[in-house]
Amino acid sequence: MKIDQHNSITKFHKLSIAPMMDCTDKHFRMIMRKISAKALLYTEMIVAQSLIYTDKKEKFLNFNEEEHPISIQFGGDNPQILKEAAQMAEDWGYDEINFNVGCPSPRVCSGNFGASLMKEPEKVAQCIESLKNNCNLPVTIKHRIGVDEVDSFSSLENFVKQIANAGANRFTIHARKAILKGLNPKQNRTIPPLNYEMVRKLKQSNPNLIIEINGGITNIEQCINALNDFDGVMIGRSIYKHPLRWSEIDQKIYGLNTKAKTASKIIFSLIPYIENHLKNGGETWDICKHLINLVEGIPKAKIWRNQISTKSIKKELNIAYLIDLTSKLEKLGY
Ligand SMILES: Cc1cc2nc3c(=O)[nH]c(=O)nc-3n(C[C@H](O)[C@H](O)[C@H](O)COP(=O)(O)O)c2cc1C
Repeated sequence: MKIDQHNSITKFHKLSIAPMMDCTDKHFRMIMRKISAKALLYTEMIVAQSLIYTDKKEKFLNFNEEEHPISIQFGGDNPQILKEAAQMAEDWGYDEINFNVGCPSPRVCSGNFGASLMKEPEKVAQCIESLKNNCNLPVTIKHRIGVDEVDSFSSLENFVKQIANAGANRFTIHARKAILKGLNPKQNRTIPPLNYEMVRKLKQSNPNLIIEINGGITNIEQCINALNDFDGVMIGRSIYKHPLRWSEIDQKIYGLNTKAKTASKIIFSLIPYIENHLKNGGETWDICKHLINLVEGIPKAKIWRNQISTKSIKKELNIAYLIDLTSKLEKLGY
């Protein structure tokens, strides 16, 4: 198995925020960066082929400097195209490339990439090699424990060993299999049961591999426990829906001696960013659609969220109003 100098870097990411289409755009990532200075952030999945052929590359690739460390996630199955994508990711300043072999969407699988590729470890190994050989970034992979009838421990271990030999620096494993016929992507995130034990066994049998666990984790205490067995944890839906629940990542996971931020502090710290976005022709809703999830669990939270949503969808939300509403939150100590 090849282990290179990047392993020491990738091992550092104890907690990451999962790639999620239509969720983890650069605005959401900025919100999360205000919550945690340390968590590894991911882009949404970018189909390598679309990136190569579009003349709007910046739309796919742009991110804010503050977002580092950030991993760009690619979907694809063509080593030649991935080679070009890898070079672009490096030129654009990303910290890491992640290859998606976990997405069960029929659209993605009909293009023969995403989760269906777990049935073709040789092909995935070629893709990883192509990414590795054409940039100096760590290359990591996100996959399931299995797909359809390919769901035994030995097939998982065989897959992982081949990919490790191709040079992958970290394995993020969503601990449920994907069922490609009969379940839609949403069902594929809930119906196949979680099997952390299989991933734990994989780590125990292959202690040199860097393995991050993903799926169904909903609070920091679960992360702390998982870090006894795994090198990292990845959180998706719970962080998107309840970002403030995760306000102590830096203190409790990374041991930083800083103070967790309140919702109002986070929103105030984003005001210059929102102003800049508006100046560049963007709309408040682009950011506020994510921001509203910050406010929950306090009296009138729903009213606050409604006020922000309604005004910003109607394009009537101005910064002064946002500051005024946020000051009310601050007065409540929130
Ligand atoms: C709306 C949504 C979009 C997603 N998009 C992606 C994606 O682009 N790439 C990917 O690898 N996984 C994607 N996922 C899967 C998540 O990254 C994660 O593996 C999954 O939600 C399980 O983690 P969780 O239980 O913490 O949410 C998506 C999940 C959701 C809910």
